[in-house]
Amino acid sequence: NRRSFLKSAGASVLFAGGRLAGARAALAQTAPGPLPLISMTDLTGGITERIPLHLKVGRHDFGNGVLSDTFGINQEYLGPVLRVKQGQTLPFDVQNSIADTSTLHWHGLHIPGDVDGGPHQEIEQDGLWSPDVPIVQHASMNWFHSHMHGKTARQTYTGLAGVLLVEDDASLSADLPKTYGVDDFTLVLQDKMFGGDGKMSYELSGEVFEDGFEADTLVINGAIAPVAQEVPTGLIRLRILNACNARFLTLSMATGPVTVIASDGGFLSAPVETAEILMSPGERYEILVDMGQAERNALNVAYDEGGLGFLANLFGGSQTLTALILQRSSQKGFTGSMPKQLANLAPPRPYDATVTRSFELQMDVGADLAALALAWDNFCGNAGAMAINGLPMQMERIDEEVRKGDTEIWRISVDDQLHPFHIHGCSFRILTQNGAPAPAYAQGWKDMVHVEEGWSEVLVQFDHTAPADAPYMYHCHILEHEDCGMMGQFTVS
Ligand code: C2O
Ligand code: CU
Ligand code: CU
Repeated sequence: NRRSFLKSAGASVLFAGGRLAGARAALAQTAPGPLPLISMTDLTGGITERIPLHLKVGRHDFGNGVLSDTFGINQEYLGPVLRVKQGQTLPFDVQNSIADTSTLHWHGLHIPGDVDGGPHQEIEQDGLWSPDVPIVQHASMNWFHSHMHGKTARQTYTGLAGVLLVEDDASLSADLPKTYGVDDFTLVLQDKMFGGDGKMSYELSGEVFEDGFEADTLVINGAIAPVAQEVPTGLIRLRILNACNARFLTLSMATGPVTVIASDGGFLSAPVETAEILMSPGERYEILVDMGQAERNALNVAYDEGGLGFLANLFGGSQTLTALILQRSSQKGFTGSMPKQLANLAPPRPYDATVTRSFELQMDVGADLAALALAWDNFCGNAGAMAINGLPMQMERIDEEVRKGDTEIWRISVDDQLHPFHIHGCSFRILTQNGAPAPAYAQGWKDMVHVEEGWSEVLVQFDHTAPADAPYMYHCHILEHEDCGMMGQFTVS
């Protein structure tokens, strides 16, 4: 999108002066550091007690030798990888010690509205929230993050985010790599800004707000990229989350195509080979890398077009960064071969839809944000309120009422900028993305869809209820847009 490209290039000039120190510090790290493995809590063997999740203040070194002020969940930065199984009910005890109200939303889970963790399930400072979260869906990579109204962007950026892997009987017995930290890796990709003191920073202005907060340094699992990992010969599985606030990332492999096996909501019907994956904030993809083919392979990341101007300025014209280097060792790992078939995925049946709804995402509807935003963080600066169908998000207003079990088509259009759209409580199938079929790797179960020009349509159905006091959200997953009002609420009954 050219307009957003120009805006970002302009922003880079504005920000380069103040931010170059941190960026240089990041670039000075020439030898890639080790890939941090996020600690994993495996509950697939059974749950005997409540599961504590402690939102807390932390201090974390991203790899530049400076302790940044962060938030973490049970740890200093980010949350653990939770591995759970279909059929379980997860008895969480979420304790909030971050000195601010927060929430914890389960992004991707098909669960009732009252345990969804959206903006209506606030956890007061020093408070405890104890939802029992039923896992009915099949194997999929989900995540959890703050959804505090008006503060989602800041709290998530600071570290209130983690990965939740759902397994099922089929995925646990599948002939796929699944030894965590050996042949199965979870990668949380984020972009960060570091100030002159080397500390992670999050400063906004109206200018930044247009595109959302796009930073200059790529971070994987809390370490400044690139990172490196020794892996066995054979197939390596990478489960990847784009946890950036606003950045689209383009992923590719150094030695050949990317083999995609799963999207947001579960396995594809068969592996899909593609030159690259365009990944919006909030999206997840699982890929397989064949280390029998190459002694060394690398996951490369290019920032979205909107950010290329910025990246080119700071990175001497290069457009693609090495993010993760996989180095083959003699270690033993997965010995199977590339699967031919993954899941039974029937094509979507749009003719089953009985309801069609339209949503227009709008950048500035001229409403006074301060007046709307009684309890908001007030960091939207002088940017105007953003909206969907003319209305900025309001906690007291229900925008749509959906009947449980109905098959619906949701049509999402935009003014003139790229937005990633997300719906709570479901997985959907993309019918069209920007007026065209979605790439093959995005034709399975999804809860995120890109919208840039024309419209995108998804086919969706809800299996749980969400009452008026605990509605589901739909919103742009550029978190600053969400916080500025590009969000709506719906009930399911
Ligand atoms: Cu990932 Cu409503 O959020
Ligand atoms: Cu969500
Ligand atoms: Cu947006």
